[in-house]
Amino acid sequence: MSHPKIFITRLIPGPGLALVQKHFPNADIWPAEMPPTREQLLAKIRGMDGLLCLLTERIDAELMDAAGPQLKVISSMSVGMDHIDIPAATARGIPVGNTPGVLTDATADQAFALLLAAARRLVEGVDYIRDGKWTTWHPQLLLGADLTGATLGIVGFGRIGQAVAKRAQGFDMQVLYHSPNAEPAYGAQAVDLDTLLRESDFVSINVPLTEKTRHLVNAEFLAKMKPTAVLVNTARGGVLDQTALYNALKSNQIFAAALDVTDPEPLPMDSPLLELKNCIIVPHLGSASYKTRNMMSKLAAENLIAGLKGERLPNCVNVSVYRS
Ligand code: DGY
Repeated sequence: MSHPKIFITRLIPGPGLALVQKHFPNADIWPAEMPPTREQLLAKIRGMDGLLCLLTERIDAELMDAAGPQLKVISSMSVGMDHIDIPAATARGIPVGNTPGVLTDATADQAFALLLAAARRLVEGVDYIRDGKWTTWHPQLLLGADLTGATLGIVGFGRIGQAVAKRAQGFDMQVLYHSPNAEPAYGAQAVDLDTLLRESDFVSINVPLTEKTRHLVNAEFLAKMKPTAVLVNTARGGVLDQTALYNALKSNQIFAAALDVTDPEPLPMDSPLLELKNCIIVPHLGSASYKTRNMMSKLAAENLIAGLKGERLPNCVNVSVYRS
C-alpha cells in the first residue's frame, strides 16, 4: 500500500510522531489541545486505513463501521484498553495494539508518590503554608501514617502491581496481593480479598477496568478496610464507586485516599471528593514522565506501522485476528 490514510487523534510525543511521519508523511494529525468530539471523530475516521488514538477516544463498533472495511489497524497510545471495543475489532479482523511494559515503572512510581503523599499529608502541608497558617513547629501538626513496617495490599498483581510490590520492599513493608492466577513475586503473599482488606494499612488498586472490576471498590469493600488505611488508585476511575469513597472518607471510615484516575475524566469541579482534605486527586498522570511518554508514542507508532504493512503488531491485544 503506497499511500495509506492514517488518522492520529492528537499530537503525540516526538519519537512516535517522527516515526509515523517518516513512514507516512501525509498522516492526518488532529492539531488541537482537546481531543476530537465524537462527531468530529466519526467524520475524520471515514476512509482511514489506520487509526492511532489515545485513551480519551471511545473506539466502538459504530466508529469502526464509520471508518469502512479498509480499516487495517487500531493502535492506542495506552496500556489500558477499556476505551476500545476489542470484540468488535476482532469480529472485523482488525488488530488492536497497545503499549504495555514501557509505563510499568512510571505508574508504580506514581502509586508510591500518591501513597506517600496521602500517608504524610503532603498536599495539606502545602495548602497550610499557602493559606498563611504556618506559625511554628508543632508536635501535633499534620500527623500521618508510617510506611515502614506497614502492610501493603495490592489488588491486581500484573506488571504494575508487581512493580509496586518491588518498591514496597525498600520500605520494609509486608506485601499481600489478591489477583487470580498471579504467581508470587517480590516477597508478596497471595491472600483472599477479605484478608487483604482486613490486614492492609495501604491498599493499591492495580486491576484493569472490565465488567468484572467495575465498582469493585464499593461501600462493602471500603467497610472492610482498617479505619487507619490509605487507598490508592492508579488503575481506572471506573473501578471505584466515588460516592461510596466520599462517604467512607467523610465519615473517617478510612484515613485517606489518593486517586490518579477518576470517573469521569476530567472530574467535574462540583465533585464532592474535591471538598475533602483526606482525598488527593491528580489528573491521570501515572505515565506522565518524558521518557515514558516518548516510549509509549514510539510503541504506538510501531504498532500502527506494522498493521499498515500487514505485519503482526509488536503488541497486539487481540491476537486471535491472526488465526482467522
Ligand atoms: C494507560 O496507558 O492506560 C495509562 O492509564 C496512561 O497513563
